[in-house]
Amino acid sequence: MTSQDYIKLEEKYGAHNYHPLPVVLSRGEGVYVWDVEGKRYYDFLSAYSAVNQGHSHPKIIEALTKQAKKLSLTSRAFYNDVLGEYEKYVTEYFGYDKVLPMNTGAEGVETAMKLVRKWGYKVKGIEKNKAKIIFAKDNFHGRTISVISASNDPDATNDFGPFTPGIISIPYNNLQALAKELEDKNVAAFIVEPIQGEAGVMVPDEGYLAKAYQMCKDHNVLFVADEIQTGIARTGRMLAVDYEGIKPDVLILGKALSGGAYPVSAVLADDDVMLTIKPGEHGSTYGGNPVAAKVAIAALKVVKDERLTENAFKMGEILRRELRNIHSDMITKVRGKGLLNAIVIKPKNGMEAWDVCLKLRDNGLLAKPTHGDIIRFAPPLVINEEQLMECVDIIKKTFKEIEG
Ligand SMILES: Cc1ncc(COP(=O)(O)O)c(C=O)c1O
Repeated sequence: MTSQDYIKLEEKYGAHNYHPLPVVLSRGEGVYVWDVEGKRYYDFLSAYSAVNQGHSHPKIIEALTKQAKKLSLTSRAFYNDVLGEYEKYVTEYFGYDKVLPMNTGAEGVETAMKLVRKWGYKVKGIEKNKAKIIFAKDNFHGRTISVISASNDPDATNDFGPFTPGIISIPYNNLQALAKELEDKNVAAFIVEPIQGEAGVMVPDEGYLAKAYQMCKDHNVLFVADEIQTGIARTGRMLAVDYEGIKPDVLILGKALSGGAYPVSAVLADDDVMLTIKPGEHGSTYGGNPVAAKVAIAALKVVKDERLTENAFKMGEILRRELRNIHSDMITKVRGKGLLNAIVIKPKNGMEAWDVCLKLRDNGLLAKPTHGDIIRFAPPLVINEEQLMECVDIIKKTFKEIEG
């Protein structure tokens, strides 16, 4: 079968809820992926930052296969001999008392929403069913009903209502708006992405997160960081909030927590918050299963053993420097932190960001536009300088070809 055959098959039998770049991949290793015709590409999306450790990392795959052969799922109706080990490992790794294991990112956010509401009623003393959560506009936290209730993206929300109540929406990177809403005594939490990834890698002003955190403290409101995309070394720190020296009351992780090998997400918090949820009040059949637990331990070990945080920081500096040196009328902005970066594209000769991505693909690099005019550049964090410079050459060549 050719690429076209595979695309047609998905088109016919799959729901049309995505608009993929036309490339059909069948293999991945490290920073590379190969299509069904055998052509090799640099992966500059990393499955939206899930594959930080590189495709099919041998240590992660070994953990996955070894545990899958032994015991894959018990549900939480019984104990298993792996979950406790993972819970100890992940909580010590990030410095929290407890973890609540889930599977997907959206579930992690849903879990955090439930947790902060519970804390709001049980600890803060908010009147029954009055709890509110503040979100930032242009966020992306996932696709479930409660999570999209906090979205202002028409594609995410149109014809999916009615929505979950108790959500306050404020502009991102705006402390005044936050200060105003924090006056409401029914607010339980502020849930925020340290960098808005899907919005186009929007990096807030320095100090924004630290000040927002302090303001939340002053008002007895939980500060919740959604680090599903920014976390686990992506931005050149283990967590993006580490740049501001704060420890969120609730931390949501996903994606790279498994290095792309398995759906694993987690909500971390200290006892005063986490223990407000009692047995039977929340859960998931697959959450914290033995395979997920072993995979997550392996994925987190790789990040430390291979010093991916340091590499992401260093490679990110080089990438942004090189991108800023590209002479193109089409690139109006380069922004990012570590290896979470984006360029903003001004259309030229009838060519838009989508066309640039098609040309990049032809030249051996895969990236995807977001919001029509932004291209994210987020390779696996295992990329080395030589590979990065080859990618820069591909990007340079692509713009040269397009602009003539
Ligand atoms: C910041 C953030 N939160 C949540 C999610 C949702 O994760 P998932 O697609 O695993 O549900 C994403 C996915 O892109 C994300 O970037």
